[in-house]
Order: sequence, then C-alpha cells, then structure tokens
Amino acid sequence: MEKIQEALAKARSVRESRDQTVSPTAPVAPMAQPSPGVTVDEAVRLAWARLERYDASPERLERAHVATLKGGPDASPFDVMRTKLIQTMRTNNWHRLAITSPSAGCGKSTVALNLAFSLARQTDIRTILAELDLRRPSLAKTLGVTPARNFADVLDGRADFADQALRFGDNLALALNASSTRNPAELLHGGGVAERLSAIEAIYAPDLTIFDMPPMLINDDMMAFAGKVDCVLLIAAAEKTTVKEIDTCERELSSQTNVMGVVLNKCRYMGEDYGYGY
Ligand SMILES: Nc1ncnc2c1ncn2[C@@H]1O[C@H](COP(=O)(O)OP(=O)(O)O)[C@@H](O)[C@H]1O
Ligand SMILES: [Mg+2]
Repeated sequence: MEKIQEALAKARSVRESRDQTVSPTAPVAPMAQPSPGVTVDEAVRLAWARLERYDASPERLERAHVATLKGGPDASPFDVMRTKLIQTMRTNNWHRLAITSPSAGCGKSTVALNLAFSLARQTDIRTILAELDLRRPSLAKTLGVTPARNFADVLDGRADFADQALRFGDNLALALNASSTRNPAELLHGGGVAERLSAIEAIYAPDLTIFDMPPMLINDDMMAFAGKVDCVLLIAAAEKTTVKEIDTCERELSSQTNVMGVVLNKCRYMGEDYGYGY
C-alpha cells in the first residue's frame, strides 16, 4: 500500500512540474511521454483495474447512434476526428476537451460517446469520459447503466472517483450521473472542482478527458467551466443551429479557452463516404 502511495506521489510531482511549464489549466497526465517508472505505471494500472467494469451492448449503442465500438465505415469519421484531436492535443500538451453546442439536442453526448469509444480502441491511450451536463444527464441511460453515485458527488467531494466511475476495457473510464444536480453552475465554477479533477488525473493519468457539457445558450454552466479545459469542440446540428449561434458561442469560448473546431452533425444529405452524417 505504501509503495502505491509513494508511486502516486511521485507521479503527481513529475506531472505537476511538467504542467507548470506548459499548460495554464494544470492538466496532469503526460500524453505519450516516456513512463516515469515501472512502479508508477503499475500504480496507475492497478487504479484502473479496480474500477467497476462496464460491458457495452453493441445493439443498444447502435440504436443510440454510437458507431465506434468497432472500426468500419460508420466509425471512420470519428476515427479521423480522434486522430486529429490526438495530434493537436499532443502538440499543445492539452489534456482536457469539452464538447458543447449552442442549444440542446445537437448531438454533444452522441459525439462524446463516439469519440470515447473510438479512443478506447487506441490501446496506448487512456481516456476519461466525464458527464458535466448536470441538469440533464443522459449518458447512463444511453449506455444502459445506473451508477450508484453521481459524478457530481465526486466533484462535490462526497464520493470517490474509484467508487463511482466505470471502466470499459482497460483504458476508458466513464464518469456518469444517474440523476440531475441542483446548482450546477456553482459547482462547476467552484475551486474544489479544479482540485478534484487534478487529483483524479494524478491517480488515473488519462491522456485525454472528454467533458460532455451542457448547451451554451441556455444557462452559464459551460462558461463557468470553460477556463478549466484546454480546448473545446462545438457541435452544430444541420438545419437547426444558425451561423449566428455558432459565431456567438465561438467568440464567448475563445475568451476562455481554445476552440478546436465545429462539428456539423445530423446532416441528412452527405455521401456514403461520411458514414453517419457527422
Ligand atoms: N448524427 C446523428 N444522426 C441521427 N441521430 C442523432 C445524431 N446525433 C445525435 N442524434 C440523436 O439526437 C438526439 C440528441 O442527441 P444528444 O447527443 O443527446 O444531444 P445533446 O447531448 O447535444 O443534447 C439523440 O436522440 C441522438 O440519438
Ligand atoms: Mg447531452
């Protein structure tokens, strides 16, 4: 036990010193950096192994438009997006990605899940998918699970990530909510959240954490959290989101973080090459 504590402390200090020089949001995990030592690797591996296992139902996910459990034509737009994300995030030493949209129903959660399962097929990359649409959580229902605790409880300091998160395969952790939370903006804005996220990153060393966020133009939850991520992906729904909405969101987000790009989702008239219409 002591050995694990020592290893975690070492991992934490290595990462903290690395982060101080590069990223303002203090993400902790090294992305494809040389391992600081076998003992640290072992501690991280053990921490992941202890998370409760989640077995995905391919049929259920397919019905929810999650197409990336396996490779293939439907997965390929997400695999391309995944590769670009990894490259950009590595280059910039970024580790936290938020996914948001101007209004509800544009496909944030669907894109977040597709990216997460696509990343899970990259066995050298550890990913955490964290649900922060705390007023209208949806991921647990989509995945067909009922977490005993909410991820909001972890952020609030009332539960441990180790008891809350689920593990898909060896390298994807799912931090979900079974029910909605009161006062999410206060929670997301508070200093405790930054501290708790850093603590999770110190133990689980994710290369990438994807935050499935609320829509931007309905409340201020996203902007309360924007300063805590390295970059954002904006999801627009074809035939629904306006250019003005994208512009407004992009401008607001750019004042706090890096906008990686806009994903046009739900296109009905795309060629076969584009798979699911993303
Ligand atoms: N590309 C798509 N094609 C068809 N249906 C989609 C697509 N993306 C999302 N959906 C569906 O649209 C609805 C809203 O998607 P969701 O990801 O929950 O949006 P958000 O998280 O932005 O509120 C869900 O029923 C989802 O299955
Ligand atoms: Mg959603």
